[in-house]
Amino acid sequence: MKKILFMNFSPNKNGNTYQIGKELLNDHNYEVMQISDYRISQYGQVYNDDQIKEVLKKVAEFDTLVIGSPVYWYSVSGLLKTFIDRLYMLPEADALNGKELYLFAQGSAPDNDTINSITFLANRLSTLMGMKLKNVVVDRSDGRKILSNMTIEKEI
Ligand SMILES: Cc1cc2nc3c(=O)[nH]c(=O)nc-3n(C[C@H](O)[C@H](O)[C@H](O)COP(=O)(O)O)c2cc1C
Repeated sequence: MKKILFMNFSPNKNGNTYQIGKELLNDHNYEVMQISDYRISQYGQVYNDDQIKEVLKKVAEFDTLVIGSPVYWYSVSGLLKTFIDRLYMLPEADALNGKELYLFAQGSAPDNDTINSITFLANRLSTLMGMKLKNVVVDRSDGRKILSNMTIEKEI
């Protein structure tokens, strides 16, 4: 069995992103990481209480990452963008190498440019970090397309 981590990159711990992730992983064993529980400083402005290494240490325990984000300003949330920025030149980011990645984003009305931009980001992120991108879906907040187009594999 694959070890699956659902990372909620919405500040709403029980919001649409979380609800879609929960439904997507309905019959799976998985753990949830509410990224808003962690303090992740901006790239270039790292405070003493920064927890990026703690997050990456936890990530290292899993085979599969399911990243969920709301659409903010035609892109992913600031929480997710900051996390991605922080991977740059960080040795601990090797934790992502070899992981399977599923990434979904939902917003009230994501347009085609937003969908293309988030899809491109997921592709570049996975390639540069040595991850295996299994699927990326951007959808409206009801998550219908995410739930019908994304199947999270269970077996190794
Ligand atoms: C700051 C901010 C910016 C947003 N920008 C967009 C946007 O550009 N496109 C869109 O479709 N929805 C946008 N939304 C709507 C959210 O993506 C939508 O409400 C989403 O379902 C929130 O997810 P959550 O409940 O997990 O936080 C924005 C919301 C906020 C708070």
